[in-house]
Amino acid sequence: MTQYKIPVIPGDGIGPEIIREGRKVLETAGEKFGFDIEWIEYPHGADHYLETGELISEDTLKDLSKYQAIYFGSIGDERVKPGILEKGILLNIRFYFDEYVNLRPVKLLEGVWTPLKDKTAKDIDFVVVRENTEDFYIGIGGRAKKGKSKKTLEVIRNMYNVKFGLDITSDSEEIGYQLGLISKEGTRRVIRYAFEIAKNRNKHLSSVDKANVLSDIYGFWREEFTSIASGYPQVKTDFNYVDAVTMWFVKNPEFFDVVVSPNMFGDIITDLGAMIQGGLGLAPGGNINPEGTSMFEPIHGSAPKYKGLNKVNPIATIWAGALLLDHLGEKEASRQIVQAIEKNIVNNKIKTYDMGGSNTTTDVGDDIARLLKEI
Ligand code: IPM
Ligand code: MN
Repeated sequence: MTQYKIPVIPGDGIGPEIIREGRKVLETAGEKFGFDIEWIEYPHGADHYLETGELISEDTLKDLSKYQAIYFGSIGDERVKPGILEKGILLNIRFYFDEYVNLRPVKLLEGVWTPLKDKTAKDIDFVVVRENTEDFYIGIGGRAKKGKSKKTLEVIRNMYNVKFGLDITSDSEEIGYQLGLISKEGTRRVIRYAFEIAKNRNKHLSSVDKANVLSDIYGFWREEFTSIASGYPQVKTDFNYVDAVTMWFVKNPEFFDVVVSPNMFGDIITDLGAMIQGGLGLAPGGNINPEGTSMFEPIHGSAPKYKGLNKVNPIATIWAGALLLDHLGEKEASRQIVQAIEKNIVNNKIKTYDMGGSNTTTDVGDDIARLLKEI
């Protein structure tokens, strides 16, 4: 029997509840498809941080690097200033493991209600490949008061290091600034990844940027996109400004097959994507380093007000678990989990409040596990 060791970080808020259901369904898949999962639990999140001061240490990250895929719930807690846990744990993991692809399927499952009038499951089925390590997420910037000041900003990555030495002279009362950068290496690898997916789907790749205004950074993105496109003559391509993309996601979602986007715009458009596929309760994501340690999570947050109520929808997390299994090579198990989710929705009986039902998180997990056995 194949044995998988999977680190799991349930995290904060509703994280533990949704992860519990995800584990249940993945274990059921294991029984059915002949693999066994050993879960290795990590306590990281707000409680652990408040007790020990550790967000996620270098030692923990080294330890996690032994594994191919991490299962992640959600983080964020009212007791901790916004950004501390997000940057210290979630973004830290994405960057440390160089998980340069954030893969976010936008797929309206059969039976799910979409706010888009007259659109059905066949109209909403695309994948967003969000770059996940660069752009305005590199986290460098500062504040400067009137007068002269100096600042050194550094970006440290596996592939490169960049250092900016700034000499600032300003007569504004105070400025705040943030630098974004994309590298040739970082841009090319994620665009190539997106082309590979498009090649195996409907051969259409849409690029997102704002090259009309942020022309240095996204003009560069376009050049690299064009250069890589020449190696994929079978894939149809187009450039789209991010503002227009938000419009097209609503008006003509059927236009899209694969979408590749720099980090920040990818963040924004995938929340919109989540809504058109039925809501955040149904949107999974994978943070992927094809050669290293990847991480799979629902794209929603920790929803602290629902913590402990056994009320929220576990489907995004269960689906993220399916993406995890796909990544480990368990393609059929992964496919059947998505089918079981779809059956649960089409049956329209056991559902959480966000889908108009009154069942618990546990009920939905149990039902999906049961349906998986039956497929
Ligand atoms: C997401 C989240 C994160 C992001 C936050 C929590 C740092 O919004 O996964 O989309 O901005 O990437
Ligand atoms: Mn987001």
